[in-house]
Amino acid sequence: MSDARPILFFDSGVGGLSIAGPARAVLPTAPFVYVADSAGFPYGEKTEAEIAGRVPALLGRLAERYRPRLIVIACNTASTIALPAVRAALDLPVVGTVPAIKPAAAMSRTRTIGVLGTRATVRQAYVDDLAAKFAGDCRVIRHGSAELVELAEAKLRGEMLAPESFAAVLDGLFGQDGGEQIDVIVNACTHFPLVEAELAAAAPRPVAFVDGGPGIARRIAFLTEGQDWPTHPGEGVAVFTRLGEREQALAPGLAARGFARIEAL
Ligand code: DGL
Repeated sequence: MSDARPILFFDSGVGGLSIAGPARAVLPTAPFVYVADSAGFPYGEKTEAEIAGRVPALLGRLAERYRPRLIVIACNTASTIALPAVRAALDLPVVGTVPAIKPAAAMSRTRTIGVLGTRATVRQAYVDDLAAKFAGDCRVIRHGSAELVELAEAKLRGEMLAPESFAAVLDGLFGQDGGEQIDVIVNACTHFPLVEAELAAAAPRPVAFVDGGPGIARRIAFLTEGQDWPTHPGEGVAVFTRLGEREQALAPGLAARGFARIEAL
């Protein structure tokens, strides 16, 4: 009998789709459960204590309900604050999403990297540590944006987006001291790869973008190597902690990405 236990992806909103997408490409028949903590959205504007209190408890409930074989915290904010606590609380593998500073440093010719995340992520010591460890010879310029998270959610709801909004967000990076030297931007919030084309179009000059999606897909494949999977792809499930009109408006976007069933936790 094949193993029907899913992989559970967790984010505050739709950002984790940028992690589930590359994972789907390497594991085409794996059952996926996608959880958006819409009742706690947005994480980037919360305090460390709020995230640390909320995320492990919620993932405990989700693990009981969906019995996943592996959990992916597809959110930089939750991972940089709560990953050790989640791992300590759960008896299953947990993969986190942290800013892709290492690959960005390997790519940058100008040795100037932009890190675009939520306000909560860019102030974490975790980011200082990644920068010191992997980009010691680079200038690392950070900017936290809640607007860009909202823009990515709006895109998934099918709304029209003004190009100037993206230029304004990027100005938060390029407008800083030395910002004109940035040649690589780390999308350090999982929402941001969903609007990467819009960001690239609004950038004052060509710049490369990197994010954790492809690396996490490889990590999931490694951790589940040799496991049984269903022979055919099933229907993905999207779960919301608050299921109102805003969440219902995401249904077509979620269905297009393989999550045709919607549930409330
Ligand atoms: N997608 C999340 C991240 O990677 C956070 C978005 C938010 O809720 O502020 O950080």
